[in-house]
Amino acid sequence: MAVTILKGTIVSARSPERLDITENGYLIAENGVITGVFPTLPEQYAGAPVEDWGNALILQSFADLHLHAPQYPMLGMGMDLPLLEWLNTYTFPAEARFADSGYARTVYRQLARELVENGTTRVCMFSSLHTDATLILMEELERAGVTGYVGKVNMDRNGAPGLLQETTEESRRETLRWLGACGDFRLVKPILTPRFTPSCTDELMAFLGGLAAKQDLPVQSHLSENQAEMAWVRELHPDCLQYWETYAKYGLWNDRTLMAHCVWSDQRERAAMKEAGVTVVHCADSNQNLCSGVAPVRTMLKEGLKVALGSDIAGGDHLSMFDVTAAAIRASKARRIMDGWETDFLTVPEGWYLATSAGAAYFGEQPGFAAGNPLHAIVLQDDRLPQSRPLTAAERLERCVYRRQPDAIRAVFSAGRKVYTAG
Ligand code: GUN
Ligand code: FE
Repeated sequence: MAVTILKGTIVSARSPERLDITENGYLIAENGVITGVFPTLPEQYAGAPVEDWGNALILQSFADLHLHAPQYPMLGMGMDLPLLEWLNTYTFPAEARFADSGYARTVYRQLARELVENGTTRVCMFSSLHTDATLILMEELERAGVTGYVGKVNMDRNGAPGLLQETTEESRRETLRWLGACGDFRLVKPILTPRFTPSCTDELMAFLGGLAAKQDLPVQSHLSENQAEMAWVRELHPDCLQYWETYAKYGLWNDRTLMAHCVWSDQRERAAMKEAGVTVVHCADSNQNLCSGVAPVRTMLKEGLKVALGSDIAGGDHLSMFDVTAAAIRASKARRIMDGWETDFLTVPEGWYLATSAGAAYFGEQPGFAAGNPLHAIVLQDDRLPQSRPLTAAERLERCVYRRQPDAIRAVFSAGRKVYTAG
């Protein structure tokens, strides 16, 4: 049996309220599956090799539940327009480039490497509408050790005709061709991905809902991100009272559904998410960059909704989930101010929980480094920063969230395997 034993200051998010901290502890996995965190080395492992990381922090790696792989080349650019204009002006032309498989290979290899180097080992990702580039993306993620779900995007209306749009028939055919080719992947699985309601005809939505049921597939999309988008959806679906119903009506709304943003989801829409078990993916960077709004993340949590975090590159401008966590905390503070100081903000442990355990829950994991979880971990050496006094482990984690530390991530483990060691 293969045993992995990591020694260091082990910090994990067992609950949103409190960090679990074991100084000089042992994080142990057998055959890639965690058996536990121990203050001393259990007898049964005496003599087994220990990776001793000294005073380094050993943390859960991140789950990024919403990002757009073909927007990686435009990361950090073109955020001077609101959503719908941003899509037409910058995004659709950038995604159209992925008709070229060679380009896709180069870009996606670089993206997969950068994700791992930043400690993101689980993703739910949008590809473009291109089947071949989507399969290349899945290959590159799997090769780099990134696990999770990838979706070939469906869009048969309101795209860029001749550049980035399918016919309904092409969308159907290519989705089936893509799913037929997904069987060989071990760590990366398909997720159905209608881009958002304005991008998909009713016929296509009905097809995808049927497919989700028939092949037992999860679904990801966008919801109530921007007010102009919502007004458009109302025009397109006058029979639906609210945006979410355009997904629910076609069987795309259940406890494996991910909905990015939900900035403007009101109490009724949030209740529909809670009842169905839909996961909200909060993308604070993107919401600010595109002037979409400030999602009421604290209220969603209080109401008992499932909430995880997404970088939403390239609406979001940060791939590192440390930055994404800090952005979510800041957004919750902006919301507190907007709400007349009536709502709380996210604490650092809560932000950390959302970026790690809450995202991992989508993949069936228990919170923190629970026994039975696949080993997903980051080893982080933070001792190069000046300190005015000795810091607690919780203070060190807080600083990691807010302060970029080049080369601090020394090793990354994903699904039980070491997938990155700093050079
Ligand atoms: N809604 C539809 N497509 C997109 C996209 O690519 N990014 C964001 N942020 N919202 C969308
Ligand atoms: Fe998005």
